[in-house]
Amino acid sequence: MNLAVIVLAAGKGTRMKSELPKVLHRAAGRSLLAWVLAAAEPLDADETVAVIGHGADAVIEALPSTTVSVVQEPQLGTGDAVRVGLNGCGDAVNTILVVPGDMPLLEADTLASVVETHRTQRAAATVLTVKMDDPTGYGRIERRGDQVIGIVEHRDADARQRGIDEVNTSVYAFDAELLTDALDRLGRDNSQGEYYLTDVIAILNADGHRVVGVVTDTVEGTGVNSHAQLAGVSEVLRQRINDRLMADGVAMIDPSRVYIDAGVAVDPGATIYPDVYLEGDTTVGAGAAVGPNVHARGTSIAPGATVRFSVLDGAVVGPKATVGPFTYLRPGADLREGSKAGAFVEIKNSQVGVGSKVPHLSYIGDTTIGEASNIGAATVTVNYDGFEKHKTKIGDRVKIGSDTMLVAPVTIGDDAYTGAGSVITHDVSPGALAIERSPQREIPGYAETRKRRASRDGK
Ligand code: UD1
Ligand code: CA
Repeated sequence: MNLAVIVLAAGKGTRMKSELPKVLHRAAGRSLLAWVLAAAEPLDADETVAVIGHGADAVIEALPSTTVSVVQEPQLGTGDAVRVGLNGCGDAVNTILVVPGDMPLLEADTLASVVETHRTQRAAATVLTVKMDDPTGYGRIERRGDQVIGIVEHRDADARQRGIDEVNTSVYAFDAELLTDALDRLGRDNSQGEYYLTDVIAILNADGHRVVGVVTDTVEGTGVNSHAQLAGVSEVLRQRINDRLMADGVAMIDPSRVYIDAGVAVDPGATIYPDVYLEGDTTVGAGAAVGPNVHARGTSIAPGATVRFSVLDGAVVGPKATVGPFTYLRPGADLREGSKAGAFVEIKNSQVGVGSKVPHLSYIGDTTIGEASNIGAATVTVNYDGFEKHKTKIGDRVKIGSDTMLVAPVTIGDDAYTGAGSVITHDVSPGALAIERSPQREIPGYAETRKRRASRDGK
């Protein structure tokens, strides 16, 4: 069998009220279109063709290289869209699976069962349907037994037909040759003046061909036309991701408050607390505890690490390292095994060596810290002179005193100390103490003097 998938993605999505083409809106870390393509992926189709129109350039850019795109302009309806899509398919194709680009909840198994039913039933067309409590707006399925004899659009339906609760999802398998022939005979004599793909079903019936229906779970039939529906499908997608992770052995205190994107990997044995957002290609290792209140993007969190109340962007958190509360790890922050970034600490493009600690109120940028060093509270690496960024090197077993300004470029040797409050502008030799501080002065009886001066001035 030679299978082609045609994804319908030319529509504007007027109700999104957005410049972004509808199918590029994102849910749980993927565009709507990417979710649909991912559901179709396991079918291993010979060809995948996207019919695009509104925002074509942006959609083309988002398509994987294996997907062919054809532009439908103007958009004259779903029947016209599939006719255009067929132009992108080779001659060898004999089965066409049509999938709308705005139905991210479709599952791979469901698409496979449509193709499978289509094949085993030797049907001319197979329609995926759902039952809806409120079918308003959808095309209604007219049946005779297991045969689907027609689809009537809501606007064109009479009272009896509007009473039908089985609706068209717009997912279909077609015999390619019969589809091509039927599309050539479509009219546009309907309330919208469009070529309706749905009318192909009646045409095939009239020609004596077999059209069957496959009913699936209602939730899968949800299309996205508005931001409210986008939020609704996002919730379902997140729930599926969380259910899969929990089944694999990930602990979640409250999965309804965990937001994990499709591209994220969480290993069994990790614990995710509430109000955690894991995005991009973030990974979490076994035994790691993440949250509450963590926003991590493109970050790897190693086994046994702890991250609480923090923002991590392009960071690496090593095994058994601890982060937070209230820590900001920016791109290139690389915390080695057993290291620590504590409260009100920001780290960028810097390595914190094995067992080293930056516990409080510090900025560390463009720096390498060796092993087992301690950075005192309120230390700042002064990496920017207003024109260029400079590097700070801190060795092993170094003790940086509280409130040290390390004016880069500067190197602090192994086992060295800096005195609290120092502004360090020169390299410090291994094992030395560098202290930069004016001597402390004392003015005796100052308080009394102050008081006398005030009463003299009548204050
Ligand atoms: C369509 C079906 C309806 C079904 C519903 C399910 C028709 C006539 N009706 O209605 O039976 O219940 O989907 O959601 O097919 N598109 C194009 N080019 C076009 C027109 C549409 O690519 O010229 C794409 C849209 O971007 C969208 C899909 O086709 O992804 C469906 O189009 P839409 O206009 O939303 O159809 P509905 O009126 O919802
Ligand atoms: Ca629609």
